[in-house]
Amino acid sequence: MSMNSPFKSDILKGEVALLTGGGSGIGLEISTQFGKHGASIAIMGRRKNVIDDAVSALQSLGITAVGFEGDVRKREDAQRVVEATVKHFGKLDILVNAAAGNFLVAAEDLSPNGFKTVMDIDTVGTFTMCHEALKYLKKDAPGRNSSSGGFILNISATSHYTASWYQIHVSAAKAAVDALTRNLALEWGTDYDIRVNGIAPGPIGGTAGMSKLVPQEINNKIKDYMPLYKVGDKWDIAMAAVYLASDAGKYINGMTMPVDGGLWLSRPRHLPKDGVKQLSRTVEKRSRAAPTGVPTSKL
Ligand code: COA
Repeated sequence: MSMNSPFKSDILKGEVALLTGGGSGIGLEISTQFGKHGASIAIMGRRKNVIDDAVSALQSLGITAVGFEGDVRKREDAQRVVEATVKHFGKLDILVNAAAGNFLVAAEDLSPNGFKTVMDIDTVGTFTMCHEALKYLKKDAPGRNSSSGGFILNISATSHYTASWYQIHVSAAKAAVDALTRNLALEWGTDYDIRVNGIAPGPIGGTAGMSKLVPQEINNKIKDYMPLYKVGDKWDIAMAAVYLASDAGKYINGMTMPVDGGLWLSRPRHLPKDGVKQLSRTVEKRSRAAPTGVPTSKL
């Protein structure tokens, strides 16, 4: 779905953004919206054809874009892609860590290597990219004339706020990503004026996450369980990203924003609203009418 942005189209003008996983799903929508708001885009991904198609799609929208093949699990790839981005555009202002691995599996059926694979992509990959990008994101880094440091955005999840069925690996990995967000915000915010924030998407339509993690029959009913009664759009995540990356977010640091329509708060409603009114009034009346051993003057 294509919706108009409520933000001015130049709020990221002149910024250079590198996005891991920026060639598909939520990452591609953030690439697109960053580009539409004036940023130049570098995307990093494992699949050359996906990267090539994404770059063509961005360019067809008039966005300056380049793609680099690479796997965030390999430090040499992270280093090479960060260097190539700076070589191509002359600087780096924004890093978005959107690359992630996911699949549904019961904890007892998940091999330690399967657990490690997701930790390696989501957590270690995010740290590696941040680490490689640091020197270019500092306030006085080469090519950056900005009076402030750069910006890092980590795409997280809400699965670890409580617990999620068949997602032990992802919950552990994203809990650690949120810890990276807070710790880097503290250290690099203080030392280098770099802001580090996160976004925790809920179920977002048209993503691999939805098709991989939510069976179709639940997918059809999912809105019935949600506080806002709807699944999110990739656009919702991208608008939150534009807001956080822009000057509008200049005092926001170390925060992971859930963009899930309030789903993580939801609980099954055991009693209809009318029922609760009736019940609580009845209980009140009952206790007023029949106080047990309490003098009326004390009621
Ligand atoms: N259930 C259980 N274990 C699984 C699994 C599944 N569906 N998929 C992979 N694994 C395990 C493998 O068995 C292996 O462990 P083992 O060596 O003990 O057998 C380990 O994970 C690595 O698997 P492999 O296929 O070699 O990893 P990969 O690097 O080729 O792929 C994944 C990475 C597993 C994350 C893959 O799902 C992927 O690339 N996904 C695309 C990106 C994605 O998931 N995006 C998320 C959108 S929400």
